[in-house]
Amino acid sequence: MIKDYEEFKKFVFQNTSIDLNAYKERQMKRRIDTLISRNKFDGYDSYSKAIKSDPKMMDEFVNYLTINVSEFYRNPALWKTLENDILPDLINKFGPNLKIWSAACSTGDEPYSLAMVLAKKVPLSKIHILATDIDDQVLMKAKDGVYGENSLKGLPQEYKDKYFEKMGDRFYKISDDIKRCVEFKKGNLLKDNYPSGMHLIVCRNVMIYFTEEAKDEIYKKFHKALVPDGCLFVGNTEQIINHREIGYTFDKLFFYRKVK
Ligand SMILES: C[S@@+](CC[C@H](N)C(=O)[O-])C[C@H]1O[C@@H](n2cnc3c(N)ncnc32)[C@H](O)[C@@H]1O
Repeated sequence: MIKDYEEFKKFVFQNTSIDLNAYKERQMKRRIDTLISRNKFDGYDSYSKAIKSDPKMMDEFVNYLTINVSEFYRNPALWKTLENDILPDLINKFGPNLKIWSAACSTGDEPYSLAMVLAKKVPLSKIHILATDIDDQVLMKAKDGVYGENSLKGLPQEYKDKYFEKMGDRFYKISDDIKRCVEFKKGNLLKDNYPSGMHLIVCRNVMIYFTEEAKDEIYKKFHKALVPDGCLFVGNTEQIINHREIGYTFDKLFFYRKVK
């Protein structure tokens, strides 16, 4: 019998490996309570029984929980900074075979944007981007590579013309050339091992959902995953207050570099 939210969190961890203690509690609980009543269950116990016995419902629950709004080229000015300042410097220092990780990549808009921008500087054959997310459903969509026009609204026309094929009135399919640059994998930032030797880590618009302790731990693990002078690109509400303490220097707004 699951009596309260504390017990529901344990149930979620046992069944999905998602540790809700690491997410901001008020926000997350409100979301879950809304979902339960919208689905006409009378509480945590009946809802948890239902999702445990129905894998499709469990997937839908995880998908709802993880909030996966994304879009191509989100916050265009920052992508210009990446293109004009950060990437040239990284290529100059580390060569064209950059190791890049899009952490919490959602439906692929972010890693595909990275591949398109990088393709202006290095041949497509040299681009390899690791893209991870905790949610199977968004990863499936990412691998599919079909997007509604809303996802592309901020993307400069030159990229749309070059790398997308229009499907009907409202959908766009990304080219296989860009798809081949990105390797999608399931990964939980709170639990799984991180890759190493990264030159650029892009992690945007997910830290806002985590507690201060969880954020701190993740920023430390990113630091370890980067090479000295490697860069961490964060979301535009996600400045790292204690960046110096962890071992980053501030480069440009929302770009941090690992101290050598
Ligand atoms: C709002 S989206 C951000 C997507 C993209 N980075 C962007 O800025 O457009 C947040 C993503 O974080 C993922 N996420 C949430 N918790 C996670 C965790 N513990 N480990 C990995 N990914 C997580 C969600 O599944 C979702 O796809």
